[in-house]
Amino acid sequence: MVIDVLRATSVIVQALSQGALEIIPVITVEEAFRMAKELPAGTVLLGGERKSQRIEGFDLGNSPGEYLSERVRNKRIIFTTTNGTKAFHSVSSGKEVFAGSFFNVGALARRCAELRDDLLIYPAGDEGRFALEDVVCGGMLIDRIRFITGEGIEITDAGLSALLLYQRFKADLTEAFRLSAHGRDLIRKGLEEDLALCARIDITEVIPLFREGVIRPAGEDREKRGHKDATT
Ligand code: MLT
Repeated sequence: MVIDVLRATSVIVQALSQGALEIIPVITVEEAFRMAKELPAGTVLLGGERKSQRIEGFDLGNSPGEYLSERVRNKRIIFTTTNGTKAFHSVSSGKEVFAGSFFNVGALARRCAELRDDLLIYPAGDEGRFALEDVVCGGMLIDRIRFITGEGIEITDAGLSALLLYQRFKADLTEAFRLSAHGRDLIRKGLEEDLALCARIDITEVIPLFREGVIRPAGEDREKRGHKDATT
């Protein structure tokens, strides 16, 4: 499970919940342009960031607010971000690699509880550094899984630390965002609005699944996807 709450996995969950066909996470900007050229014009959008800003020549940046149905429905999105998209490739050998965020934490917890298997939570972080917001989200996921399974799960010390951090911030997730290095950077760059957007909990049932280089909703037909907040 990859978590990059600010903002890559929030965007991925949002885009799929708004009807995007699929997300193709790529590592470099060059690769993104090259791939877009090979696909039929009008079917593809380029999305992502470098230094948190939209990349020149791209259609979309890295704010969930940009990925609305009127823009992304039935489109394939080639997506590259500093940390989040790389993280998928780092854990691609996992049996089922999901994208997690606060948007879909409830759906994910139910799915993980059903799977009854070991769960590796991979907080994407920032250039290899620990990121508070990703760990808090991981802690919330563990808390939800524990609730469903009646605490019948074994938690590592890293998982326990995430759980404790989540408990510290659960009353106001944006507090964790504002304290975090990446959150502060987004505020400095005029992107503070994204902190509130990314702190919305359980707004969709979509579970993005990364398989063979592509992220699509796990096992369900797109028309059935629920999204309780279609306006933001
Ligand atoms: C990333 O993948 O590093 C982030 O999503 C960066 C950002 O917030 O734009």
